[in-house]
Amino acid sequence: MQKKTIHILSIESSCDDTSAAILRNDTVLSNVVANQKIHAAYGGVVPELASRAHQQNIVPVVQQALEQAGITKNNLDAIAFTRGPGLMGSLLVGTSFAKSLSIALDIPLISVNHMQAHVLAHFIKEENYTAPDFPFLCLTISGGHTQILRITDYNNFEILGETIDDAVGEAFDKSAKLLGLPYPGGPLIDKYAKLGNKTAYKFTEPRTSGVLDFSFSGLKTAILYFLQKEQKKDPNFINDHLNDICASIQHTIVNILMKKMMEASKITGITNIAIAGGVSANSEIRDTLKSYENTLGWQTYIPKFEYTTDNAAMIGIVGYFKYLNKDFDKENTLATSRLDINE
Ligand code: KG4
Ligand code: ZN
Repeated sequence: MQKKTIHILSIESSCDDTSAAILRNDTVLSNVVANQKIHAAYGGVVPELASRAHQQNIVPVVQQALEQAGITKNNLDAIAFTRGPGLMGSLLVGTSFAKSLSIALDIPLISVNHMQAHVLAHFIKEENYTAPDFPFLCLTISGGHTQILRITDYNNFEILGETIDDAVGEAFDKSAKLLGLPYPGGPLIDKYAKLGNKTAYKFTEPRTSGVLDFSFSGLKTAILYFLQKEQKKDPNFINDHLNDICASIQHTIVNILMKKMMEASKITGITNIAIAGGVSANSEIRDTLKSYENTLGWQTYIPKFEYTTDNAAMIGIVGYFKYLNKDFDKENTLATSRLDINE
């Protein structure tokens, strides 16, 4: 029997990116992301400004997604949206929009967990990309989360370890702030690190009692004290050594992440290893993980750049799976800022 063709409009608005995508079954037809530049000046996301920008962006972004996909809203079979976790004001914009449009078009509404979507982005159908087989481990690293997950099927996510304080994205962004770089600093550290020596400076790696847990707040303090000490000796220290500092910070973070993944693989015996989330765009993480295919015999799954940072295509793939299970939501579904990965 031939599979029915489904078109899903998906909407992501959990933080500071307004995104809309159209999927035809598990294939992405369009994936439009409007970044909010306004937060750069404040050194971090300002929730009130984020929700206002979502309100301005959402209609044009959805319009563009439809145009790029070459369909109209009357071709849609369902609307998927991010229910949480995220910033409440931001989530409300996407949620209200999705609900209104689903009522107007009289098509199903599907709520999606943002963290599941980061992981399941691996199942978006792409040329030359094979999705991981179950079970696999996923290192989910974003601005708000740092988790090692064991995934045994599409809706079973077991948290094996997670951060006890800052998320890894925050570690990148806060380090960047100490260096005077604008928000989000993660991609800039990555950029400057390419030109620097990663063994130039050493930072102590924080310890945690849980073998697979992470801690990044100590690292931020270590970097702060290091910079203060060096700047006393040389006020131009940061400017003159920016590339080496970035390379050393990045290398320390990547080491922390990779050691924990090796431990997780050893404990579980699983060698199918995926990464997900905004920080998985980082080039050293991607290169290091890839190199473990040869040295450790891992099968690694590294998503396309556009599916790493927040985007609606990842919401759409979860929407598609839920559509197949007829797992629909009512109009009274509420956005929620906190949401466990299995909810
Ligand atoms: O998944 P995401 O887009 O949003 C959240 O759900 O948090 O992740 C954003 C995070 C930010 O902290 C940003 O600095 C970081 O991902 N990031 C990077 C890179 N690209 C984005 N961190 C390091 N290297 C990168 N290339
Ligand atoms: Zn995210």
